[in-house]
Amino acid sequence: MSDKELIQIAHKARAMSYSPYSGFSVGAALLCKSGKVYMGCNIENSAYSPSNCAERTAFFTAVCAGEREFEKIAVVGAKHGESAEAPCAPCGVCRQVMLEFCDPEIFSVVLQNGNDTRSYLLKELIPASFTSDNLK
Ligand code: THU
Repeated sequence: MSDKELIQIAHKARAMSYSPYSGFSVGAALLCKSGKVYMGCNIENSAYSPSNCAERTAFFTAVCAGEREFEKIAVVGAKHGESAEAPCAPCGVCRQVMLEFCDPEIFSVVLQNGNDTRSYLLKELIPASFTSDNLK
């Protein structure tokens, strides 16, 4: 699947966002090695800290469906009522969650960049990281 196709699915996921507190809606589309795509949106909470980002919603949904191998994730985000054309990079917590399941040398994060897309390897987004290797 192309980066642009995956971004289109992320836009569909963004439409499902529950974000009454920030007014900022985010959508993600996670392509698994199985070929399946899992969508995620941000889901907020009146107590704020229980809120979940779109990327983690996609990952947790996929993992709960039995997926363990992932190829890339597309992410789009913007204020309510605005089209998500500017890049919306994943927060640090989501980068750490991606690192738990993905090879940072291979897994890529695809962002919208105007009419185009921009792709980063996970290792570029979370260098010098803490992983399960540290616990050995
Ligand atoms: N958000 C995401 O869903 N993903 C990110 O990577 C950055 C932030 C959400 C969290 C919150 O619901 C809203 O965007 C504003 O921070």
